[in-house]
Amino acid sequence: MTKLKMGIIGAGGIAQGRHIPAYKKLSDIVTITAVSDLNPATAAGVAKENAIPHVFSDYHDMFSVVDAVTICTPNKFHAEISIAALNAGVHVFCEKPMAMTVTECEAMIDASRKSGKLLGIAYHYRFMKDSIAAKRVITENEIGEPIVARARAIRRRKVPGWGVFTNRELQGGGSLIDYGCHFLDLSLWLLGNPIPVEVTGTAYNKLSRMPGQVNQWGDFDRENFEVDDHVTAYIKFDNGASMLFETSWSANVKSDEESMSISGEIGGIDLFPFQMNQMKHGMLLNSEADWIPGDDDAGIPQAMNFIKSCLGDEELIVKPEEALQVSAIIEAIYKSSETGKSITLR
Ligand SMILES: NC(=O)c1ccc[n+]([C@@H]2O[C@H](COP(=O)([O-])OP(=O)(O)OC[C@H]3O[C@@H](n4cnc5c(N)ncnc54)[C@H](O)[C@@H]3O)[C@@H](O)[C@H]2O)c1
Repeated sequence: MTKLKMGIIGAGGIAQGRHIPAYKKLSDIVTITAVSDLNPATAAGVAKENAIPHVFSDYHDMFSVVDAVTICTPNKFHAEISIAALNAGVHVFCEKPMAMTVTECEAMIDASRKSGKLLGIAYHYRFMKDSIAAKRVITENEIGEPIVARARAIRRRKVPGWGVFTNRELQGGGSLIDYGCHFLDLSLWLLGNPIPVEVTGTAYNKLSRMPGQVNQWGDFDRENFEVDDHVTAYIKFDNGASMLFETSWSANVKSDEESMSISGEIGGIDLFPFQMNQMKHGMLLNSEADWIPGDDDAGIPQAMNFIKSCLGDEELIVKPEEALQVSAIIEAIYKSSETGKSITLR
């Protein structure tokens, strides 16, 4: 069987924690051929540990020895590196968020169309077992047309104290663009990818700036904390559906929460954990899933879908045009918060 030759660009936390282990488990269809990182010691260390034959200090030099690259750099470089790779005839799997702005996302899609190479975005929540089950239930029309989504991605005092997560220039924002984006993507997918038309949002960063607060995920510079740590939003879609959304790295709540529910015309679903509610046989029924088949590590099916799509055996599950809409909502929430107004998107 043909194996996809994969390169890794940006060999930090997510490359080492998710993508490289997934590709090693899928070694019958993919081989990691090259690695590149701004920090040469990081690239060399990752190459040695994983027996990766080529190490490049300039990622452009990798394009002649790979079929595809996985981009795991800070958000600021997603667009630039994706476009360079696509223009060089290389498929791209880019970490989330797709990019920092909608304009960058559009340029990435344009490069993908012109080159005929694939552009996948790593919204891995779609590959979780609950998400796959929910999509199936909705596709099989068990809840009718989805109308309302509610999503909460809330961490209690867990601002990432490592890397560049609190650097606005390199990441484009905080909790919303880093964490909440997954829940926007998943909600949009379950709603059937309607187009967002109006967004109202508020982004706060008060709590992280307060002196003397505890943080469970290390230390960060409170005085220069410049990104959002708590965001609320209301989103309307072109098909009449709507969404209530909240995300935080550092909320004053009793515990962390990852929850989502979709209400349809004739039933609904809850995720994390999965539950379905219906009116059937003259009763109001709630059903829980006792067991859902699939991989507990969403990184594996995510990697498999991208690789098989590059090999021509599957279609990308996360399409770049869909990931662009997540970025459009993020951009609009930030704009709405800055201006104090609702933002109309089309
Ligand atoms: N899907 C998820 O749930 C998830 C989780 C964590 C991070 N991420 C995303 O992955 C990306 C990286 O995050 P991370 O946690 O691995 O960060 P990290 O800081 O651990 O690693 C980033 C690496 O990129 C390198 N780098 C920086 N600029 C570069 C450039 N221009 N060219 C090549 N290498 C460069 C750095 O030296 C570093 O080794 C971010 O976009 C982040 O949003 C996604």
